[in-house]
Amino acid sequence: MKHVSVFIFIALVMLLLGFANAAEPTASGELSSSDFSESDRCTECHGITYSQWDDTMHANAYIDPFYLKEFDAASNDTDGLVDSFCSRCHTPIGVVSGEIPPADGSHLSEIAKEGVNCDFCHTVSASNGTGNAPFIVTPGDVKWGPFKDSESAFHESEYLELETRAEFCGMCHEVSHPVNGLLIDDTYPAWKNSTYAEEDVTCQDCHMTPGITEFEANPGRSASGAPRRDHISLHRIVGGNAFMTEILNADNEKEMAIERLEQAATLNMDSPEIANRSENVTVQVSITNSGAGHNIPTGVSEIRQIWLEVKVTDGEGREIYNAGATDTRGEIVSAHTVYNNVLGDAQGDATLSFWLADRVLSDNRIGPKETVTEEHTFLLPEDAEYPLTVDATLKYRSAPQELIDHLFGEGVHEVPVIDMKEVSAVIYDPATPPEERVPPESTPGFGVLATVVVLLIVYLFKNR
Ligand code: HEC
Ligand code: HEC
Ligand code: HEC
Ligand code: HEC
Ligand code: HEC
Repeated sequence: MKHVSVFIFIALVMLLLGFANAAEPTASGELSSSDFSESDRCTECHGITYSQWDDTMHANAYIDPFYLKEFDAASNDTDGLVDSFCSRCHTPIGVVSGEIPPADGSHLSEIAKEGVNCDFCHTVSASNGTGNAPFIVTPGDVKWGPFKDSESAFHESEYLELETRAEFCGMCHEVSHPVNGLLIDDTYPAWKNSTYAEEDVTCQDCHMTPGITEFEANPGRSASGAPRRDHISLHRIVGGNAFMTEILNADNEKEMAIERLEQAATLNMDSPEIANRSENVTVQVSITNSGAGHNIPTGVSEIRQIWLEVKVTDGEGREIYNAGATDTRGEIVSAHTVYNNVLGDAQGDATLSFWLADRVLSDNRIGPKETVTEEHTFLLPEDAEYPLTVDATLKYRSAPQELIDHLFGEGVHEVPVIDMKEVSAVIYDPATPPEERVPPESTPGFGVLATVVVLLIVYLFKNR
């Protein structure tokens, strides 16, 4: 009897494993693009959601000119080996419908060019884990979503817990090299190992609500005629890309990317209050990744650049020290550190072509909640005028200028440098008594101006 139950137990386990194995990711060419509905179809009822998604990097994931250039290079370098691989995330419908290959996109339907679109995300019915796009997609009448009680005249609705979890994003926001397994994009794994995962602060909480660094409810209706709900997710999903959004004329997304970058980190400066001429002065600047649930930078972080520009000027406005300015060719000059990771190819040489990488040469990205400190030392010249001002600015750039010049041609696109955060300090003449050590101010502060304006308006109204 005992043996029988053990036997049944084993059989059940095997059956369950069999089912798990049956959940294979949707294969290339298994479906047809006509199985999917174009996003235009959803506008009729989900107009607001559509206007949020349209113009995002998801909607542009295939037509993104930077992607297309890199895809072309990758396809050439590997004799087409990576064609389906890259495309599975950048045009998922193109791959499951067998429209890619060919790599030149000549067989792609309009809907496949919509990149990561409405009907793709909402017909994902399951996933075989995270990384390298192991999605199972079941296009048709049913739209899967976060609601358990949703009703629509156009389609069936089904609740999918996966959709509300970071693992949904982790299907694509985790990339490993298809041949050697090197982890190239670790956004999801870095989140998974952070306190954000422990506290259940998901990608959706920061990227699909007005909160930016935490969940913030957005009450409303998700479709015309639908019931009012406590929270409707925002589909204007942005990261730090203020470069391609600019080229694609996605002005809202560019602004939102800048706003997001401004909230990702905090700066702190430790600088002496006084210093003598002809002596070395040391200031420390620390950077904390206080707002992102993953490393900064993340994603294609070997291409992204974060660095500090530290500048010291004297009382006459003369520059005494500079680390991290960009020169006329867009190169970063003598920065203390460029925060990103450097990948190496089979010869051990640094490469930005991540499809050729098989090792990590260095990694100094700033982890979630992590603080790093830079030390800057400069000699205070004999003739420096007091007081001195130390300014530190945290900068972000989507790609090195050199790479963009190489791909698009010199002088075609200037990669914008975004100021994420600023901090400053003043260093005084040791001879200045402490009570006279006040920061130099040439113009009245904004607070003073605002008060004057308000008083003036009140005065004008009273005398009408
Ligand atoms: C990158 C994948 C993705 C794309 C593209 C996408 N959605 Fe969503 N959508 C989600 C996720 C994830 C949620 C649930 C988020 C949560 O509740 O945590 C969601 C929620 C919804 C909901 C439920 C109501 C709400 O807003 O919370 C509707 C309706 C919806 N999406 C419609 C659309 C339409 C229409 C489009 C295209 C214009 C679209 N989605 C594009 C991922 C996506
Ligand atoms: C005829 C109007 C109509 C059209 C067209 C339409 N929807 Fe909906 N949809 C609704 C309504 C109404 C709801 C219910 C919303 C609610 O319960 O808050 C809904 C709900 C949803 C949900 C939430 C499902 C859940 O269980 O969480 C998703 C996802 C969704 N729609 C996706 C889409 C997509 C993708 C398209 C385009 C292919 C689309 N819808 C087209 C009316 C429509
Ligand atoms: C605590 C809030 C928070 C959470 C959780 C979070 N993010 Fe972010 N994310 C940010 C902020 C802030 C930025 C801007 C900093 C940056 O671009 O490096 C950002 C940037 C990004 C970028 C652009 C990266 C770059 O440097 O170019 C991507 C992609 C991204 N997030 C995806 C995700 C995914 C996927 C998840 C879940 C696995 C997630 N985020 C979880 C706040 C968050
Ligand atoms: C089907 C794959 C796929 C899924 C699922 C997916 N993404 Fe993306 N996502 C992409 C691709 C591809 C890009 C980059 C497009 C480009 O820049 O060309 C991207 C871009 C982004 C960006 C913009 C990055 C930047 O540098 O500005 C953010 C933020 C982001 N995704 C967050 C999310 C979140 C949050 C989820 C889950 C709700 C999610 N994604 C689900 C494939 C996906
Ligand atoms: C498993 C999914 C996945 C695969 C496979 C993938 N990508 Fe991406 N790709 C992404 C995501 C997610 C982002 C957004 C990350 C970010 O913004 O930093 C992205 C961003 C990019 C970007 C930056 C675009 C921009 O506008 O800044 C380029 C370029 C790119 N991918 C090229 C490729 C190439 C070439 C391949 C194949 C060798 C490839 N990707 C394979 C998911 C993927």
